[in-house]
Amino acid sequence: MRINVLINFLAALAVAVETKPPRRAVNHVVHEELHVSQRSWTKGYRLYGTSTLPVRIGLAQQNLHRAEEYINAVSHPKSKDYGKHWSRERIIETFAPKQESVDAVKEWLEAEGIESSRIEMSKGRHWLEFKATVQEVEGLLKTKYHMYKHTQLGHPHIACDKYHVPDHLVNHIDIITPTVHFDQRIGRERENKKVPLSEDKVDELKKRSLAKRQRPENGIQGIPGGSGFSPKQGDMIQNALATLDDCDQMLTLDCIRALYGIPRGSLAQSNNTLGIVEYTPQAFLQSDLNMFFAEFSPDIPSKEPVVQLIDNAVVQTQNQSFDFNGESSLDLEFAMGLINPQRATLYQVGDLNKGASFGNFLDAIDGSFCTFQGGDSVDPNVDSPYPDDVRCGTANATNVISTSYGYNEGDLGSKYIQRQCLEYMKLGLQGVSMIFSSGDDGVSGNGNTCIDPETGAYNDGSSGLFNPGFPGTCPYVTSVGATQIMNGSSVRSPESACELVIISRGGFSNVFQMPSYQQKAVADYFANSAPSYNSSQFNNSMTVRGYPDVAANGANYVTAVDGEFSLFYGTSASAPVFASMINMINEKRIEAGKGPVGFINPVLYENPQIMNDITTGNNPGCGTDGFAAVEGWDPLTGLGTPDYPSLEKLFTGLP
Ligand SMILES: *[C@@H]1O[C@H](CO)[C@@H](O)[C@H](O)[C@H]1NC(C)=O
Ligand SMILES: *[C@@H]1O[C@H](CO)[C@@H](O)[C@H](O)[C@H]1NC(C)=O
Ligand SMILES: *[C@@H]1O[C@H](CO)[C@@H](O)[C@H](O)[C@H]1NC(C)=O
Ligand SMILES: *[C@@H]1O[C@H](CO)[C@@H](O)[C@H](O)[C@H]1NC(C)=O
Ligand SMILES: *[C@@H]1O[C@H](CO)[C@@H](O)[C@H](O)[C@H]1NC(C)=O
Ligand SMILES: *[C@@H]1O[C@H](CO)[C@@H](O)[C@H](O)[C@H]1NC(C)=O
Repeated sequence: MRINVLINFLAALAVAVETKPPRRAVNHVVHEELHVSQRSWTKGYRLYGTSTLPVRIGLAQQNLHRAEEYINAVSHPKSKDYGKHWSRERIIETFAPKQESVDAVKEWLEAEGIESSRIEMSKGRHWLEFKATVQEVEGLLKTKYHMYKHTQLGHPHIACDKYHVPDHLVNHIDIITPTVHFDQRIGRERENKKVPLSEDKVDELKKRSLAKRQRPENGIQGIPGGSGFSPKQGDMIQNALATLDDCDQMLTLDCIRALYGIPRGSLAQSNNTLGIVEYTPQAFLQSDLNMFFAEFSPDIPSKEPVVQLIDNAVVQTQNQSFDFNGESSLDLEFAMGLINPQRATLYQVGDLNKGASFGNFLDAIDGSFCTFQGGDSVDPNVDSPYPDDVRCGTANATNVISTSYGYNEGDLGSKYIQRQCLEYMKLGLQGVSMIFSSGDDGVSGNGNTCIDPETGAYNDGSSGLFNPGFPGTCPYVTSVGATQIMNGSSVRSPESACELVIISRGGFSNVFQMPSYQQKAVADYFANSAPSYNSSQFNNSMTVRGYPDVAANGANYVTAVDGEFSLFYGTSASAPVFASMINMINEKRIEAGKGPVGFINPVLYENPQIMNDITTGNNPGCGTDGFAAVEGWDPLTGLGTPDYPSLEKLFTGLP
């Protein structure tokens, strides 16, 4: 190896006399390391040196310092280029790494014995990819690989504590995978919560003599007496009245329409299905959708989503329980009900063994992100960090994509999430609206964890630094928090930040700078309602991204799951409901011969008055009351909930 390095070094020097600066002696520096303790992962055995790893090197891209300028040009309402979205080719050209970066990294790899014939470059030209033995990669990155196991779910993940690159390559390389990023398998760690209908509610409904329906006893846990009830659609007016009176207890499609002024859908433009992303093994049951639509939307033309399977995905029906079916049922039932007669495209991502994460989905919908050209499998002894048969750029992105899953920022590391966030920026440039739920844990993180300000480790959530969630903190997505109708209030009264069963997540990023579209809103927030917490609790510098951007109801959703109706809570519900409205606005724009809205935040922040401002409620966590909902933007309900007619008017009025 040493001799090899020397020979290559001399050879490189010989040819480089005129074209390249002389190389310095190789000095390795730490490029990334685990900066938080991974409480949910246990370090297991050392990987065998002969196992194969699929390695990806994310090269530094050009023109990223202009990202905000580019996205504002196509999404700011005052820009002359509003709506003039970019082609994929223009994106690849603009952001492709410099040839100098490609050459420098390849030269290093070859010097370390990874011949150029083994290296492939992605279509988007910003990843180098090769397969290498663990021994080779450990030598290359001066690291050691271990198999980690998820403490609750048991699934494996390959990682190292830290890795090195030669110091002259630091500015040419963003990230290398697999290394320190716990981006594996979103799986069953759900955000939404279910509460069975209480005896009281059941009794109340019986008294109202609304049609009730006995469900067969089938042993499903948590449903009183093994039966569930729901309002039934009969006579339109009677039903609408009955339903609207109940919205503080049981939220239905009609409640949502009444809250936000959403008309019944009438359009179904081709190419404008609403994208809903679900990660295997979570899956919907067609019988649940049928049951939901029979009750609430009997006129729906198709009760089935358009299914796009990504990375050997299956819509599994073998295991049925709330954990497996809850998220998918909730998302599809309400989104499909609202956008009817338009349909939803379900992106089902990941196979039954390995699952998947956001990167796999990005690979599939965006050829500019992915790397694999083929689909050859890796060593089956090793649980590949991404699926064998990656479908690179083979699925089309829908105009609006709703995702109700999220990580803590610290699960993935700042370099990784910055790079992924820029992919959301590229999708925005292409006219895609990326909508994410903000999360359900107030100012604390998934599983109620906060961050020890001394060590950066996650703690038990009783104190410490607030724990922001990704992708909600990415400045190029629209993050949706949750609201609720207060007990005893009607759909015509203002909502509150959701503190029922779940708590709307929000706060300020520890990684991302504040985008320009948000500056005024956040400055006003600090000027008028500065929270009393110090910098050991959150980054109060007023220079970082605040989230969420908007909110929508997240409480008491009457949802059919596993053959029963029960109540659901979560920003998991808020995101697809908000996304449905953007989808309906795109219907109108397409009808008028315009393009989709794409990235919507600059328009929303420029027109905060069109939202229903939410001014009550808190998002407690980390031993505090969290932030308070106040007049104007706040870090738990954002700009507020949508007023659909105003939103439609605003966006259809833009070019
Ligand atoms: C549908 O979308 C694809 C991909 O964005 C585009 O190439 C095609 O022209 C669209 N078709 C119509 C009918 O708009
Ligand atoms: C279904 O449940 C069984 C038994 O708990 C488990 O072994 C199997 O892995 C599960 N299947 C999926 C797809 O999660
Ligand atoms: C993506 O869109 C193109 C252009 O409309 C179409 O030809 C292709 O079949 C679509 N791919 C998928 C997987 O739907
Ligand atoms: C809602 O208010 C009613 C009447 O005040 C009360 O009986 C009920 O317990 C309340 N429900 C909740 C969930 O707080
Ligand atoms: C910040 O506030 C917390 C809780 O009140 C306190 O424990 C901590 O000492 C304060 N830190 C600084 C730097 O003032
Ligand atoms: C807050 O964010 C700014 C901008 O990223 C950074 O310079 C500063 O160090 C952060 N403050 C703390 C206390 O982390």
